[in-house]
Formats: sequence, C-alpha cells, structure tokens
Amino acid sequence: MNSDTARRLSAAASRTDSALSNLLPPVEGPEARLAEAMRYAALGPGKRLRPFLVFEAGELLDVEAGRLDRAACALECIHAYSLVHDDLPCMDDDDLRRGRPTVHRAFDEATAVLAGDALQALAFEILAGPETHPDGRVRAELVVALAKASGARGMCGGQMIDLSGVGEDLGAVARMQRLKTGALISAAFELPLVMAHAGGAERHALLAFAHDLGLAYQIVDDLLDVEGDTGVVGKATGKDAARGKVNFVTLLGVDDARARLDVIADQARTHLDPLGERAVGLRACLDFVLDRRS
Ligand code: IPE
Ligand code: IPE
Ligand code: MG
Ligand code: MG
Ligand code: MG
Repeated sequence: MNSDTARRLSAAASRTDSALSNLLPPVEGPEARLAEAMRYAALGPGKRLRPFLVFEAGELLDVEAGRLDRAACALECIHAYSLVHDDLPCMDDDDLRRGRPTVHRAFDEATAVLAGDALQALAFEILAGPETHPDGRVRAELVVALAKASGARGMCGGQMIDLSGVGEDLGAVARMQRLKTGALISAAFELPLVMAHAGGAERHALLAFAHDLGLAYQIVDDLLDVEGDTGVVGKATGKDAARGKVNFVTLLGVDDARARLDVIADQARTHLDPLGERAVGLRACLDFVLDRRS
C-alpha cells in the first residue's frame, strides 16, 4: 500500500472513531454492560474501510465533512452489528475477531445479540438526526438506502444464503457475495450520492465501481481465509472449507479465484475512467483492497 493511502486510511479510522465514540451511549446506569459491548464491537481495531469509502466518495462529490462523518458512523454501526451477529454460535461460531475475543466470548451471547440490535438501531438514529442533513426528505432517503442495504435484499439476505448454501452455481455465489458484503460497500457510495443529489454519469460510475469493489472485497476475504495468517488477519483461518461454506475460493480453488479477482479489479478500474483525476483516491482504495493482508 502506498504511504499516502496508508495515511488517508489511518486518518479516516481516527476520524470515524472519534465521531463514533461521541455517538455511542455512555457506559453508565443499569444497562452499562450493553453500552460497553457496543463500544467493544464498534471501536475495536477494524480497518474502517466503509467509512474510508464514504469519505473518499463524499469528498469527490463535495459533500460537507460533518455530514459525511454521520453517514460513515451509521454505516460502520451496521457493519459492526453484522460482525457481532456473524460470529455468534448460531452463525459462524467464531471466537476471534480483530485479534480479540468476539463479543459473545468477551461478554455473553445474550449481550452480543442485544449489542448488535442496539448498534443497528443507533445507525438509523444517527442517519435520521437533523445534524445529518438539513432536508428531511434527504434524511428519509438516506434511511431507506441504508435499510435496503442491510435488510432482506441486502446484507441479511446474503447472510441467509451463506448459511443455507448455494450449491455449485457460480452465479448464485456471486449474488450471495453481492448481498452479504457488496450491499454495505455500495451503501458507502449511495449515502454520499444521496447527500450530493448526484445523478447521471457520476452516479453510474461510482455505483458500478462499488459493485465490483464489493465483490473483490469478499473474494479477498475468502482468499485470506485460506492463505492468511491468523496473527495478521485477526480472525481464525481455514474455517470456510471446514464448515462447508461455498464461495469462489472453495469452489474454484485459489488460482482460479485469483484470476477472477484480477478480471473484476480491471473492470472496477475501467468504471472510474469517466471520473479522471477526481478518482485518484478511489483507485488507491481498490489497490488497498487487493493488497490487504488483514
Ligand atoms: C469482514 O469485514 C467481513 C466481511 C464483510 C468480509 P472487514 O474486513 O471490513 O472487517 P473489519 O471491520 O476490518 O474488522
Ligand atoms: C461476513 O462474511 C459478512 C458479514 C458479516 C455480513 P464472513 O463470515 O466471511 O466474514 P468473516 O470472515 O467472519 O469476517
Ligand atoms: Mg459469515
Ligand atoms: Mg464469519
Ligand atoms: Mg470470511
């Protein structure tokens, strides 16, 4: 990763963490344990890729920084909730996340379920708040966009398919990945697009890029499950094949999955061509996603 991308990513992470820390409930009162688990889940050492994308896309579209902070925090809350629930014994049953015990291990299962629920509620509370955008219609559009990305035809739908299995159908695998991971990555572009009232070629280029970036992101995650080192990745590896998960890597093998990833990455880059120099940051995001080791 080039040093400018590393610097921007780390700045985006600090910016997100300080905004999120102010928005998360304080650890006090009889429900303190819930707030503590929410903070553990949301402020743990993750990459904050989705906030980073919100900032990059939003700056390209000239959206005000404070509004982007709110969109980034809302999206990261949904992502954090998805990970807490993904790790539960009834789902992937994982003990390690971001190099630390998963939320149900550090706390307990009921607290993890509630922390996920409350993070999801907080995401919508943030988006619907007047500080997010002065126009109530825009706020309603943001809420709808994030709800669609998170729900039955988005992340949750993808998680359902992941758990049910998709057979050996590559098209069905692509759709599953698109929903479970791609939908929230696309939301990182959709939210700033809504805030900027952007349409036409700009909208098309950014959403087409987001589509391929999301697919690439999950293929890299699946490759890391096979080739990664637990100490670096921060979560258990080798678990997808062991659990009979179906994805491009378990279906095609590492080499063919990597070849597919290269094609998707080329396509993603091509989608940014109409944006010229304005998309330099997004090209760097793609390189980061392709090169990541954790
Ligand atoms: C992990 O997401 C789950 C997937 C959707 C692949 P990230 O790799 O973005 O996780 P963190 O937030 O950096 O821990
Ligand atoms: C998780 O995919 C995607 C969501 C949480 C929506 P995985 O199950 O592959 O993610 P990891 O490998 O546990 O991070
Ligand atoms: Mg999973
Ligand atoms: Mg998992
Ligand atoms: Mg995985």
